[in-house]
Amino acid sequence: MTLEYKFPEGFWWGSATSATQIEGAANEGGKGKNIWDHWYEIEPNRFFNNVGPESTSDFYHRYKEDIHLMKEIGHNTYRMSISWSRLIPGGRGKVNPEAVTFYNNVINELIENDIEPFVNLYHFDMPLELQNEGGWESREVVEAYAAYAKEAFRLFGDRVSKWFTFNEPIVPVEGGYLYDFHYPNVVDAKRAAQVAYHTAIASAKAVKVYHELDKTDGKIGIILNLTPSYPRSENPADLRASRIADLFFNRSFLDPAVLGEYPQELIDILTEHGQLPVMQKGDLELLKANTVDILGVNYYQPRRVKAKENLPNPYSPFMPEWFFDHYEMPGRKMNIYRGWEIYEKGIYDIMMNLKENYGNIESFVSENGMGVQDEDRFLKDGQIQDDYRIEFIGEHLKWLHRAIQEGCNAKGYHMWTFMDNWSWSNAYKNRYGFVSVDVETKERSLKKSAHWFKEVSNNNGF
Ligand code: BG6
Repeated sequence: MTLEYKFPEGFWWGSATSATQIEGAANEGGKGKNIWDHWYEIEPNRFFNNVGPESTSDFYHRYKEDIHLMKEIGHNTYRMSISWSRLIPGGRGKVNPEAVTFYNNVINELIENDIEPFVNLYHFDMPLELQNEGGWESREVVEAYAAYAKEAFRLFGDRVSKWFTFNEPIVPVEGGYLYDFHYPNVVDAKRAAQVAYHTAIASAKAVKVYHELDKTDGKIGIILNLTPSYPRSENPADLRASRIADLFFNRSFLDPAVLGEYPQELIDILTEHGQLPVMQKGDLELLKANTVDILGVNYYQPRRVKAKENLPNPYSPFMPEWFFDHYEMPGRKMNIYRGWEIYEKGIYDIMMNLKENYGNIESFVSENGMGVQDEDRFLKDGQIQDDYRIEFIGEHLKWLHRAIQEGCNAKGYHMWTFMDNWSWSNAYKNRYGFVSVDVETKERSLKKSAHWFKEVSNNNGF
């Protein structure tokens, strides 16, 4: 068969999930509470259809069946996360033996099925006790995270050789401290800056711990949602607005993780507005010495930016948007089922930026996918006919392929997500999986895209 888009030998094909979104068993197996369990308890109406995290997609009990499905649809790699509050209930101290058994079983089952596990340590799920101590605002929590990371490396590092410190660390900053869509629902930009800073320090600490173990075949990275910023026009005000959006939403994590330093312009803006986080002696050296080996890129949509037409009241609290407005590009292509713009070339732009400005770091697409509300409307002959998802993935893969042809160091593509899962306060609103899950019965069935993906993976191209 002649393939128009052939990927390099050994390309990683798979998908990503996260513990709280798929495991369920939130009150089973000795798990402690995390912020999601707690927020749902106190404000269930903040969750779509009032559905909480207690059972989600029930991977905890069905992991074998699920891993067999992964194998069936051509996965050679798969990204999961460990639930910190399952492994170490309360966040620090004693390890939960039932969690060790569970994660050992999952990792072993993956390996037996020739699927390499990529393991992420933190996907939005802070143990409640640690949140009560201040969460990422607290330096002690940073230390607790480093100890948790060390424990995870010790327990599973003999079989796992791709580790990730965080998934989208900016999202808890935005959700929990700026825009009120994660617990603790604080809206305070100064505190947000502290949280972001501590997360970056925590990541560098975990990288340090891992590198000290001297695992020659192992790699540690971070997964960032890089949202390329495009200005409305080439006029200087729009260009500046776009550059500042990029500084806050991409470079605030990308630069410290990959280059080991913060962009000077970001430091200047935070200083000017009295929002520089509290730093400890030695932090900047820690960042510099502990950059990541590999970068996961989550990409869903671009950010379109224009300069503010009316300057905000100087007494209003400083927020990133103080500098820019969002802008709807005329004629843009939309995922009308989620309300997000589709701009496939964004993936190419990100990869070329990594090549040109970030030492061509080894990377992969760690999430990319299409959320669809009421997806059952596409059910026909017992299968979800998600041709829109096939097109979405295919078009992104074409641009990824082109970036690879032009020398970028991308090693794989993971779709978000393996199966429909519980997406935080959106719960089961937007479906993203290759596998559909009946929220009531938890029954699984393959969507059309799963069969398509299997072919792509088996042929290493399309
Ligand atoms: C990603 C997150 O950015 O978006 C996932 O890593 C999340 O955890 C996904 O589920 C989809 O979000 P939503 O709001 O469209 O369901």
